Amino acid sequence: MQTHVLKWLLTAWKRPMAVLAVVLAAFILPAPAHAQSADPTPGPAVVGGTRAAQGEFPFMVRLSMGCGGALYSSDLVLTAAHCVDGTGSNTGITATLGVVDLQSSSAIKVKSNYVYQAPGYDGYGKDWALIRLSQKVTGLATLPIAHSTAYDSGTFTISGWGSTYENGPQQRYLQKATVPYVDDATCNDAYSGDLIPSDEICAGYLSTGGVDTCQGDSGGPMFRKDGNGAWIEVGIVSWGNGCAEPGYPGVYSQVSTFASAIDAAASSLGG
Ligand code: ARG
Repeated sequence: MQTHVLKWLLTAWKRPMAVLAVVLAAFILPAPAHAQSADPTPGPAVVGGTRAAQGEFPFMVRLSMGCGGALYSSDLVLTAAHCVDGTGSNTGITATLGVVDLQSSSAIKVKSNYVYQAPGYDGYGKDWALIRLSQKVTGLATLPIAHSTAYDSGTFTISGWGSTYENGPQQRYLQKATVPYVDDATCNDAYSGDLIPSDEICAGYLSTGGVDTCQGDSGGPMFRKDGNGAWIEVGIVSWGNGCAEPGYPGVYSQVSTFASAIDAAASSLGG
């Protein structure tokens, strides 16, 4: 409360009706929007995000089946197993790279020639896959994957062209947001034991919701800075109950768990 108001209240004992009116007004009148309690989540537009700048996340890939991905090497895209149909030759996927605006005339568009789905993927856990592009792309930074759990905590960046609200449309412009780590025990409780803790890592504002990945962001990376200040991929967008709902964090494939398998698969695909 501002000082002059306090002073007025202290000196206003001579005007009891005026004091009563002010106190009543404080209870009856709605508070102006800016005076409402502070919200820890950033503003509206991924859910609860903002538009990414051109070149900010050069490794972001949009896949034509409606998923995201991250550039792992000049011709391999790391995505989610649930975004692809299985392992084998596949020329049916188009990757769009190098732009935040999917309709930009500078977009790089490359077809796939092979898909590698995590062996043993059955709809639960192991939600990762590699898509090999028919041509190497140049001039775009790749996103290194985390090989240990050292970065599996803290604040993560999420990004994608998916819905900005549950059941909302896909986006033309790349969105970004940040979400805090949620530990396995808390996340497993939230999902009544459906988490596979070794395979999955959770993130989100548990009590308030409001910021999350959503449909169409799947396969895209969740990433943070490593000890050298470089981006490193710690998660792959996998699933959640709705989007950005309080009590339900986003669930991501835990990249550190699969890093060796991803590297081995990448080698078998030619790098
Ligand atoms: N399965 C969704 C997709 O295919 C991603 C859902 C992520 N949901 C969430 N609440 N974080 O795009």
